[in-house]
Formats: sequence, C-alpha cells, structure tokens
Amino acid sequence: MTWTPPAEVALTPTALVDVFDDLPLWSAPFGMALLDAVALSPTAVALDVGCGAGFPLVELAERLGPRAHVHGVDPWEAALARVRAKLAAREVANVTLHAARAEALPLPDRSVDLLVSNNGFNNVDDLDAALAECARVARPDAQLGYAYNLPASMRELYDALDAALAARGLDAARAAVRAHIDHKRQPIDATVAALARAGFATTRVDEHAFRWRFADAAALFAHWFMRLAFIPAWIEVVPAAERAAVFTAVSAALDQPGGVTLTIPFACIVARRR
Ligand SMILES: C[S@@+](CC[C@H](N)C(=O)[O-])C[C@H]1O[C@@H](n2cnc3c(N)ncnc32)[C@H](O)[C@@H]1O
Repeated sequence: MTWTPPAEVALTPTALVDVFDDLPLWSAPFGMALLDAVALSPTAVALDVGCGAGFPLVELAERLGPRAHVHGVDPWEAALARVRAKLAAREVANVTLHAARAEALPLPDRSVDLLVSNNGFNNVDDLDAALAECARVARPDAQLGYAYNLPASMRELYDALDAALAARGLDAARAAVRAHIDHKRQPIDATVAALARAGFATTRVDEHAFRWRFADAAALFAHWFMRLAFIPAWIEVVPAAERAAVFTAVSAALDQPGGVTLTIPFACIVARRR
C-alpha cells in the first residue's frame, strides 16, 4: 500500500467538544480488553450488540478500517442519534445502525464474522434468545467477544449492604440483593454454558479487574454515574422505612482511611461459532 497523508481532523471547536472524550469511563476498561482479545480483519462484517452511544462500535469500525462493515444494534433510539453525530464528526462511513433488540436481530442468516458485546448481553431481557439470534447471524467459525462484570463486582459495597441488612433482620432484602446480582452478573461458567447452548465454543477467557475510588462514601453516593447505573437498584431492595438507617450503616462501613474503593472484576470471553 502506498501511504498518503491522512486528512486533518477538521471540526469546529463546538463540534469537537461534542464528540470528544464522551465514552463512559465505566465502559472503557471492558472495551479495551475486548478490543485487545478479538481478531481484527480488514474485511470483516462485524456486529456490536448493545452498542449504546457507540462503544465499542465506532472505535471498532475505525480499527477495522473502511473495507470492513460494522452493524450496531440497540433499542435506545436517543443513543443511536448520538452515534450518528459521532460517525459524522469522525467521518466514519462503514457503520449501519439498527434500532432493534438482540433477541430479534435485523440481519440475515450467516452474515457476520465478528460479534462483540461490551456489557450488552448482560442487559438484554432474554440472554438465550439473544445468543440464539447471534448464532443465526454468525457465519461458521465467526468470533464472538463479550466483556461484562462478574458477580463479585463492587463486593465492598454489597458486603457492607448485606451486613447492614442482616443486622436489622431484613432477610427478604438480602435475598433481593443476591437475586439482583445473580440476574445482572453471571459467573463465567454460566456464560460459557449459555454460549455453548447457542452453538458457540469458548476459546479464551480473560479475567481482569479495575477499581473505582472515592474520597468517602458521601462522594460515592453523590456520583452521577453511581446514581444513574447502580444506586437505584440498591435503594429499591431496602424497605423505605429502613433506608436511612441501612445506608448510614453502609456509609460508615465503607468509610475507611484513604477513602472508599470499589473493585470491579470482569471477564472477557471469546468464542467461535461451531
Ligand atoms: C451498559 S450499556 C452498554 C453500552 C455500550 N456497549 C458501552 O459499553 O458503553 C447496555 C446497553 O444495552 C442496551 N440494551 C438493553 N436491552 C437490549 C436488548 N434487548 N438488545 C440490545 N441491546 C439492549 C441498552 O440500551 C444499553 O445501550
């Protein structure tokens, strides 16, 4: 290939700031592991399941290059509008967006070489149906990469919550917390089994972890992403009359010299369509 100078990034300051550095910090470690683990072919047809506001969809499209094509699927229309703005700003033309659910993929049988999902499959309503659809659209030997957080995610918080609930005899709430974790965060064995049921043989499992640190519990409970993505589920399981006491106890248990640290272990699983 003869190298030609790439075009300069030509965006007005406003347009640049609209699309710069807007990836949720939460998503980045998972996506970095995912992009590191899957094979990248310049002619791949790829699919990002649960692409949200465009990650890793747009990054994958650029890393694969213009001869590849990447489909993004998500039912969240407002997020797809944001992806369109990013695609335009970044001048990425090899992406098709679908406002759809993983359980009913709008793609033909045996049409995809690479499927990725960055905390996507763990948010669908019916994982088996979603994986069956992925198996349908996957070409034989297609690769699937899935990164998601494991059951021990934020164990520091959940241990403190369990202790506070146990001290007050709130056993139903303890069971509800465990059910929430079981529903959202499958152990690796369960994911490998679900993939196998759908026709994907796991070829690689990497375990990683990162940490979210806060100066104190008050900062954790005030943090916008915690409030957006996690705190409502924690509050919901505690009876309203007990909430203040329970979360005061949780805060006291979390507050340690040096601040609060939440550990997020996660898995990146790579599988092949049989
Ligand atoms: C935690 S977000 C991850 C988004 C993005 N992949 C990232 O890493 O930032 C989960 C995504 O799954 C999407 N989602 C929820 N139900 C879905 C379904 N049935 N099929 C496909 N995507 C779904 C949500 O709309 C959301 O965008």
